[in-house]
Amino acid sequence: MEIIIQPTAEAATQAAARWFARVIRENPTAVLGLATGGTPLLLYRELVARQLDWSRLTTFNLDEYIGLSPQHPQSYHHFMRENLFRHVNISGPQVNLPDGLANAIPAECERYEDKIRAAGGIELQLLGIGTDGHIGFNEQTSSLASRTRIKTLTPRTRQDNARFFGSEAAVPQHVITMGIGTILEARHCVLLAFGANKARAVAGAVEGPVTAMNPASALQLHPRVTVYLDEAAAAELALKDYYRWVFEQKPAWQTV
Ligand code: PGA
Repeated sequence: MEIIIQPTAEAATQAAARWFARVIRENPTAVLGLATGGTPLLLYRELVARQLDWSRLTTFNLDEYIGLSPQHPQSYHHFMRENLFRHVNISGPQVNLPDGLANAIPAECERYEDKIRAAGGIELQLLGIGTDGHIGFNEQTSSLASRTRIKTLTPRTRQDNARFFGSEAAVPQHVITMGIGTILEARHCVLLAFGANKARAVAGAVEGPVTAMNPASALQLHPRVTVYLDEAAAAELALKDYYRWVFEQKPAWQTV
C-alpha cells in the first residue's frame, strides 16, 4: 500500500487527480470505478477542469440506494450526473450504476457483476472510506469475499449521511453495493480520506489487522493500492513519518 500524506484535502486531491488524468490520457478506453459522497467532489471538479477526453471511457459506480429513482436528488445517479457526467463528454451507455429501482435485486446484482466482467474488469477504482471503515457500502462484518448484493445500512452510516437527506429517517435503509471481492478485483484501488473523523478508520485500514470489522483493511490483500490523505485523516497512523519519507525518496520514474 502506498500512503501519500498531503497538508490539505485540496493538495491530496490534486495529487490523485494527476494520477487519474494520466490513466485517462494513457488509456482512453479505460474502465473506471467511481465513488460518491463528500470526499470525491473536489476530485471530480478537478478532473472536469482538466478537460480530458471521456468519450471512450466506461464507468461503474460502487453503489446506489434501493428505492430512489435516478431523478431523486439524493440518488447516486443524480449525484454523478450533477457532479461529473454532465460536465464531460461521456454518453449514457458508457455509464453504469446499480439500478436502485430493480424489481429483482439479486438479478440486478448479477447483471452488474456480469457487466463489469464483460467490460474487461475495472482498471482504476476510486474509493472513499466510512467512519466505520466501510468501502462502497460494505458495512462492518461484510464478507471480505462478497460480491455485488443488497446491504442494510448501519445506524451510524445513516447518521453520517443524514446531512445529505435533511434527516436520518429519510436515508434509505437498503442499498446495492459492489462487494469487497468485487472491489479487490480492480487492478488499482485509490482510496481518498480527508478530515479527523476518518483518522481512526484509516489507521485500522492501513495498519490494523485484516478484519471484517474494518472492511477497508481488506485492501491490505490487494497488490496495488494508493491512499491519499490530508494531515487530519493521517493523524492516527503510527508510521506516518515513514510514509512521508518513502514518498520523499521516490525515484523520479515513479512520480507523476
Ligand atoms: P464521505 O463518505 O465521502 O461522504 O465521507 C465516504 C463513504 O461513506 O464511503
